[in-house]
Amino acid sequence: MDVDKIRISLYDLLVSLSSAQELVSSRLSNHHQQVAYLAFRLAEHIGLPIAQQKDIFLAGLVHDMGTLSTKEMLEIVESEPVTVHHHGFRGAHLIEGFSPLRGASGIVKFHHLPWGGGKGATYKGEAVPLASHIIHLADRTCSQVRPDRNILTQLPGILSTIRGQANDIFEPGLVDALSDLSKREYIWLDLVSRRPSKMIYKSGILDIAVLEIDDIVDLSLVFSRIIDFRSRFTARHSAGVAKTAQALAQLMGFSALECKMMLIAGYLHDLGKIAVGDAVLEKPSKLDEAEFNEMRAHTYFTYHLLEPMDQLKTINTWASFHHEKLNGTGYPFHISGDNLSLGSRIMAVADVFTAITEDRPYRQGMSFEETEKVLRKMVAANAIDGNVVDALFTDYQRIDGIRVRAQNEAAEHYELTMPA
Ligand SMILES: [Fe+2]
Ligand SMILES: [Fe+2]
Ligand SMILES: [Fe+2]
Repeated sequence: MDVDKIRISLYDLLVSLSSAQELVSSRLSNHHQQVAYLAFRLAEHIGLPIAQQKDIFLAGLVHDMGTLSTKEMLEIVESEPVTVHHHGFRGAHLIEGFSPLRGASGIVKFHHLPWGGGKGATYKGEAVPLASHIIHLADRTCSQVRPDRNILTQLPGILSTIRGQANDIFEPGLVDALSDLSKREYIWLDLVSRRPSKMIYKSGILDIAVLEIDDIVDLSLVFSRIIDFRSRFTARHSAGVAKTAQALAQLMGFSALECKMMLIAGYLHDLGKIAVGDAVLEKPSKLDEAEFNEMRAHTYFTYHLLEPMDQLKTINTWASFHHEKLNGTGYPFHISGDNLSLGSRIMAVADVFTAITEDRPYRQGMSFEETEKVLRKMVAANAIDGNVVDALFTDYQRIDGIRVRAQNEAAEHYELTMPA
């Protein structure tokens, strides 16, 4: 392979990854970008230091990532969510370990806390950053915007609703700032443009981090949890796939960089599942045709979510083709034979192996004998690569141990993140 280095902007990754959630409904379209844009404009207007403006902008891009069920995702754009803190707390917990988002994490945590005449300055003795109230105001403003009507026509109505909630729900100084900004048409026209946060990023004033391979691994791990924690059924899946694929890549002679790329591809391979409905995701029995149609879209979405990032091209093919088969009967691209790279073949084996060996709430994982039977049968049908499967069985105990450890770790993290 010709790459010796992968560098990618944190901004580009967050925009691609946050748009996965927005696939759930057209009402969510650009929601993270819009909130990032407006929250940044508010922070800029009240003169917060640049470092805080940056954290607020990043917090806007990820603020609803703790929203894990599709039901919750639809609720958050409707009205003030009932489960007010859960997705904020969960989101904060999910991103806090990733250092470029540590500042954003503290902001996300309280982004639905009402001001309550000043009571919202703290929460159970913990100081609540003003930045959280900025995200709250930006979020509630953006969620009132209807995409099918002129924004400037809607603005007076939106503002009067917000003003009616000043002091009670929103910090009054911020409501004044929003009123000032309402006079600048360009802000609102920016807000409903195709990529509202891009112009802030492009201006370079926020100096957003460029990630190297190890940071991309770390951020992908965070995202694997957002993908997997949507359901107890899948809670440990991507962790197992990623570590298995990395171990197989090592056995097949991939370079150190390529092995890290494989790990990233494994963490992100089911990214498109964020857009799959809860009922389909959590069905313990065989999917009917309509449900399977919904499921079949997930790798298509993974592909198109990662596609805007040229630097991730190879990783994307490894991640997104995991349901393709050598005999051409896979989905959704029907790539076959030599057109499936070794990396994609490794991912396919890692995915099936993990899926059949992992325990799920409704069934036990398969034994060694059963696993071997299933995988050999798939090789005989020319569905998956025989050399990769041979490699797995030359070192089965070690690779299975790697999978189990990764999945136990993911399970622990799941229990810590999700309220019982
Ligand atoms: Fe939210
Ligand atoms: Fe939101
Ligand atoms: Fe998948």
